[in-house]
Amino acid sequence: MKSKSNETDHRGASEGATDACTSPQRRKTFKLMACAALVATTGIRPAAAEEDGPKVGDLLVRDGDESKTPLTGADVKLEKKQLIVYPADPTTMKVKDGSRLNRIVVIKLDPQQMDAETAARAADGIIAFSAVCVHQSCDVNGWLPAQKEFLCVCHFSRYSPLRHGEVTAGPAPRPLPMIPVKLEGDRLVIAGDFSAPPGGAPQA
Ligand code: FES
Repeated sequence: MKSKSNETDHRGASEGATDACTSPQRRKTFKLMACAALVATTGIRPAAAEEDGPKVGDLLVRDGDESKTPLTGADVKLEKKQLIVYPADPTTMKVKDGSRLNRIVVIKLDPQQMDAETAARAADGIIAFSAVCVHQSCDVNGWLPAQKEFLCVCHFSRYSPLRHGEVTAGPAPRPLPMIPVKLEGDRLVIAGDFSAPPGGAPQA
């Protein structure tokens, strides 16, 4: 499993391009050669469009963890920098890393400091969000411990995980989508859908 940090797999570009290569209807108008050329020039794989998104019950596996060890509650330390993970099918342990839109950040914060919307999606203080900035799809991999905010270093958008991903600075046009999690035993699992579609606009 390869890390996909800040690849240029932007939502608009990736979904449009991959749909063109995978949709049965569009296959009628897009020849195989054209799709191959598209993939060659953009690096976008058709598999990305077919990749399942996170589902209820999916486990979480850290980005780049070849051992596919499921994330536990104890792995997420209070107020430490967010971890980047992918969902994984609990039966097959297939890690759903074919699309960057499945990248998720996980962090643990004090539930007493969370607003109600955030607390409702938390498990023992652990909360999860899309890892893909809603501005132009960079990874949201910065952490400002004093402010308790996520930072996207591409254009310095900041998001408050304590306030369900609300934008506190920068050009991001909407909150960072949240995804509910729960603990099953000691393992962290997905407990619902993203609060909004993940991903940002393609770069102009
Ligand atoms: S891509 Fe994150 S602020 Fe622009």
